[in-house]
Formats: sequence, C-alpha cells, structure tokens
Amino acid sequence: MHDRVFKHTEAHKLEDPQRSQWLPPAEILQHLRLSQGMRVADIGAGTGYFSIPIARAVGATGHVFAVDLQPEMLDFLRQKLGRPEAPENVSLHPGKASQLPLQDGSVELVFYANVWHELDDLDAVFREAVRILIPGGRIAILDWRDDCSPPPGPPQDYRMAHGAVMSFMVAKGCDEVVSKPVSRFSYIVTAGLRPLHLGR
Ligand SMILES: C[S@@+](CC[C@H](N)C(=O)[O-])C[C@H]1O[C@@H](n2cnc3c(N)ncnc32)[C@H](O)[C@@H]1O
Repeated sequence: MHDRVFKHTEAHKLEDPQRSQWLPPAEILQHLRLSQGMRVADIGAGTGYFSIPIARAVGATGHVFAVDLQPEMLDFLRQKLGRPEAPENVSLHPGKASQLPLQDGSVELVFYANVWHELDDLDAVFREAVRILIPGGRIAILDWRDDCSPPPGPPQDYRMAHGAVMSFMVAKGCDEVVSKPVSRFSYIVTAGLRPLHLGR
C-alpha cells in the first residue's frame, strides 16, 4: 500500500465529531441527487461516514455497496452497522477501485469521497466505474481543495486540483461535468456517462 493511502490506524480521525462541522454529510448529499431506491457504490468507504447517510437517503428499496481496500476499515463500518438504529441496506465489499468486486450495471451512482487523490491507476478506476454503472449513471468525486492548507486533510502535494479532475472526466467523454466548492475545504466534481460509454 503506497503512502497516499489513508491508513486504517487513523480511522478515528474519520469519526472525529468535529468533522461533521466542517464536512457536514447532509450538505455533501445535496450534490448527489439521491432518490429513494437508488443503488450507490461508495468507493473508499472507510468507516462509512457517507455510506450510512446515503443508505438512509436512498431508503430500504435502495442500496449502498461500501468498497474499501483495507478490511480493517470495513470492520469498523460493520460495527457501526450492528447498532440498533443503523440502516440495513449497506453491504461491505473488500476490494480495489481499479478492480471492483461489484457486478456490471449494478448502480446508478459511483461516489468517491476523499479517495480520488489516493488512487493510482485512474484509467482502470474509471473503466471500472463505467462497468458497474447503468446507462445514464453518474460519478461524483468529493476531494480536498488544493488552495486550502492542511490541517485538516492530506499534505498539499497529495491533493489534486478540481480542474484536473474535471479535465480527466471531460477527456473520458463524460457529460455534464460540473465542479462546485463544498463546505470549507472541499470540492465536488460530478459527471454523467454518455451513450459512448455503453460499449464498455
Ligand atoms: C481518507 S479515507 C476516506 C473514507 C471515507 N470516504 C470518508 O470520506 O470518510 C480513504 C479510504 O479509501 C480507501 N482506499 C484507498 N485506496 C483505495 C483503493 N485503491 N481502492 C479502494 N479503497 C481505497 C482507504 O483504505 C481509506 O479507507
């Protein structure tokens, strides 16, 4: 595992109550255009900071597939899902963004929260997103602004400018590529698949 990967030994930082003040899940979810019954892949789900609110937003007829490279992160999320008030529509999938353990055409949205800058082979990552999305599906990337200094967040030289993420999606032929600043330290880039992606 390379240095940019956020280590499971730091998982407590993802659960810091302060975090919900500077990165409120409800604000981020507004940009995901979620609806009841949607199926969402949360790639690099970590402790499920977003998986659980997304699961609530898509309701019992929807589903969240939480994928993470580090099984220890998913163990943490499994514990949270064992609480009485936890949603029941989250499943856990150890695996890599570049080789997803999910079926073709199985989700409407692929969400990468604070992980895009950690990924190595972005061409393979994008290919996998296209494979698991349905026609007309969307990709959303939440990541750290590069014009805010840490802390919080990864070192400056790990960060990826929102313009670079947008250019990547445009170069891949995506539709409706939009970037917005969100919360104090982050941006979200959203992009839609086009018919050209259906040839997979
Ligand atoms: C900074 S944490 C973010 C966790 C969560 N999305 C959040 O915002 O709270 C990044 C997570 O991505 C996972 N990760 C890093 N590289 C990955 C890869 N190639 N495939 C799947 N997960 C990956 C790490 O194990 C870590 O749990």
